[in-house]
Parts: sequence; C-alpha cells; structure tokens
Amino acid sequence: MKTKTVYINTIGCQMNVYDSERMLRLLADENYMPTSSIETADLIIVNTCAIREKAVQKVHSFLGRLNVLKKKNPRLHVVVAGCVAQQQGAKLIERFPQVNIVMGTHAVDQLPDLLRGVKPDGMPIVAVDMTDIIHENPAHTVMSSSGKEVTGFVTIMRGCDNYCTYCVVPYVRGREISREPGAIIAEIKVMVQSGVKEITLLGQNVNSYGVKEGLTSFVKLLALVNDIEGLERIRFVTSHPKDLSDQLIASFGTLQKLCNHIHLPVQSGADPVLKRMNRKYTRNAYLKKIARLRAASPDIAISTDFIVGFPGETDADFAATIDLMKTVRFDSLFAFEYSDRSEAPASRFSGKIASDVKYRRLQALLDLQKQIISDNHAALIGRVFPVLIEGESKNQQKKPEVPGIVELTGRTSENRIVNFPVSSHSPLDMDALKGQIMSIRIETAFLNSFRGVAVENQIESFTPERRHSHVA
Ligand code: 5AD
Ligand code: SF4
Repeated sequence: MKTKTVYINTIGCQMNVYDSERMLRLLADENYMPTSSIETADLIIVNTCAIREKAVQKVHSFLGRLNVLKKKNPRLHVVVAGCVAQQQGAKLIERFPQVNIVMGTHAVDQLPDLLRGVKPDGMPIVAVDMTDIIHENPAHTVMSSSGKEVTGFVTIMRGCDNYCTYCVVPYVRGREISREPGAIIAEIKVMVQSGVKEITLLGQNVNSYGVKEGLTSFVKLLALVNDIEGLERIRFVTSHPKDLSDQLIASFGTLQKLCNHIHLPVQSGADPVLKRMNRKYTRNAYLKKIARLRAASPDIAISTDFIVGFPGETDADFAATIDLMKTVRFDSLFAFEYSDRSEAPASRFSGKIASDVKYRRLQALLDLQKQIISDNHAALIGRVFPVLIEGESKNQQKKPEVPGIVELTGRTSENRIVNFPVSSHSPLDMDALKGQIMSIRIETAFLNSFRGVAVENQIESFTPERRHSHVA
C-alpha cells in the first residue's frame, strides 16, 4: 500500500493534543505518515477548539486558506475534528465546501472508517453523534510515545456535567464519562515502558472521576498510578474547586510521585459573579481550600484561570478579583476576556461589559500578576530543585553551540521551567540524559523560566524523586 501523508493542526487544550495523537496512531495503521508540509499532504486535519470566539475564528481562517490547496490538489482530504466540528456540524460544510469530513468529539475512533467513506466528488460526511460510552480498543488507546518523550498525557474522563454558565464544553464534549481504571493503568504502563517519566491525567473535572459510574475514586486512582514502577511524576488537570476533597488535598503531602502543583481555576474573586457563573463555591470556600493545600504542602505551586468582564461584573466585583489575587499570590495564571458562546446561558444574560472595559480589566490583572511573579520568582533564587530533564533548551537549539557546554531544559515538580548548562567534552547522549532528574540551584529568574546550575555536575538518577526543594 502506498504511504500517504497527514498534516494535523491542533488548536486548544491538552485534550485535543491527546485526541490528535490518537488520530495519528489510528492513521499509522492505515499507512499515513505525519508530515509538517501542508502543501504536499494527502490529508489535512484541523482539531478545533470552541471555548472562545477567537479560537473559532482561528479555525475559520485556517479552513479558508485550504481553498487554494484543494484547488491545486482535488484529491486532498480535509477533516475538521473536535469542538467546532461538534458545535457547527453540517453548517461548516455550507461555509467551507472544501471540507470532506466533519467529525465531532465522540468520533475519533471512527476516523479510518470515515476516510474510507470519502468518494471522489461524493457528499461530505458529517459524524457528530454523541455516545455515552468510551471505546476502548487497547491497540489504539495505548499511546506509546515513540521513545522520544519524557512526558505524556492520558485522558481519564471526558465531558463535563457542571454547566458553568459561560462555558460551551458541556455542549460540545457531552456528559461526563470516566474510563475504567484498568485501561488507564495499562496505558500508562506502556508509556512508561517507552520512556515516559511524567504523566498528566486529563479530564475537564478530574475530581469527579468515577463518581457517576461508581468506579475507583480519583484519590484511589492516583494511588494506583503512584504504584507504577518506573514512573517518576504525576500531574493532573483540571480540578474544579467545589469537588476538591480533603483526601485529595492530603495526597499532596503523602503521595510520593504527585507533583507539587495544582491548577485550580477560580474564574472570579467576587461572590455575585461566581454565583451567576454557577461555580457552586464562594470566594471564602476557595480561599479555605487554598489554605488547606498550603497546610498539606507548604511550597505547593498554585495556578488558576480568570475570566474578566463576565456579564454584570461591576468595578467592585473586579476589585474583589484583584484582592483575591493579592491574597493567594498565584504562581501562574491564564486570564481571558469573557466571550459569548451562543449555547451557554450567559450569552443571554444582561449587563454585557463593553470591550474596552474588559480589555482594561485584563491588562490591570496581568500587570498585577507580573509584579507578583517577579517577587515570587526572586524569592526562589538560591534554592535547589529536582529538575526532570526534557532535552536541550530552546536557546541551545537556536544559538550556535558554545564548545563544551550544552544548555538543557526541564521542569521542577512545581512545573517551573529551568534551563541550565552542563559541560560535555564529548557529544552528549541526549537520549540517556532525557528523563533523568538533576538537582539544580536557581541563579536567575525570568517571568516564565529560570536559569540555574547543577549542584553536583553529574547526573543523578535516584528513584523515588526527592519531592521537596531545600535551601542550598
Ligand atoms: N469566555 C472566556 N473564557 C472562557 N473560559 C471558558 N469559557 C469561556 C468564555 N466563554 C475560560 C475559563 C476556563 C478556561 C479553560 O477557559 O477560564 O477555565
Ligand atoms: Fe466548562 Fe465549568 Fe465544565 Fe470547566 S467545569 S469545562 S468551565 S462547564
């Protein structure tokens, strides 16, 4: 069979990154090789995100540009997958007739069959049915990482039942469904065998893992993953504050491999806004959870998401958000201007905020965060952290080599990026270095990364990892 090539453009969250990897795996069995050359690809897939209007615009402009390629090569197949495909279905074909397949968020496993159904000059195919089961074809769900990656993702649940009033996810990803723990563990074991040291468990709301199905609880699942030999680190995203249990909080102090970082989206610091967002927690309840997390693991890094300019957000509400930031002093955050999603109820709320006000609030929030980060980061100078080596740093890849010195990059358990030089008199065996853990002393702090030096200029490979940093 002739080998064909596939170009895949992944927009959006880690769930899409994971689904794109699954698609590539399914396509490998059909003799498709991934390519970075869009001009020569036989198949182009765009895996889409619908969370904000800007992400949808990105998809539309990408599809618009494919017109020219399709004219040059009428045999080119174009697939739109993911959340925009689910949301817009057949409407996408009316607007972009060059599209051959629109496949929704529950159709990933059907991709090979759908491609076989594409006929020259045939009708485009739309597959946007939602199922309430997760297909588990072990041959295809197991994500061996080709031996090159140190970190990997595993989906543990899909969908969301929370219905935050601004959010499109429950409508485009469907109801919450959890995967069987056995399938998750099996998948991680295969990844670990192929060299993965750090796993991130993915779900829209991992804290409610297994509840609906009566499966193992999330805390027990974490313990099972912790027992996998050869795995060094565990992360998870995303947690909903209302479901963050005391047992899970305690795990940060007790589970050896659980990284010292949590992403806990708060969205707003004002109770009236949280209520209208249907977040089901108050500012105080959130602050209490933060205090408990810090009691369980004093150095824990905490990141969050904010939405500014939610309908009805007053100056006083926004001031409450700023005040919450000053209280918590997040290690990092994502902040977004509120964007209407037609499916989500908030699009019909009164009190929409003018775009210049949203913009000003976002800038004020980001300015404050810059200040907080630069203070937080300065306080880390001189401290030593175990860093999991991911490979050569971006600088090393861009800059001409300094003879005898190679700059490596990795992350601390707190998810901080640290670059550091190692001396080498012979070419470094990067494959052997990747996945090792070294103790690095922080010397210089930037906004998004750090530079450091190895404490002992040799590679350590102790297991289990030393979880906590110490002052050198
Ligand atoms: N407008 C702006 N931001 C949004 N998010 C989700 N929906 C919207 C929306 N309609 C943000 C939330 C969420 C993150 C993934 O995206 O902060 O946590
Ligand atoms: Fe969207 Fe809320 Fe579900 Fe997160 S918890 S995916 S913000 S509905």
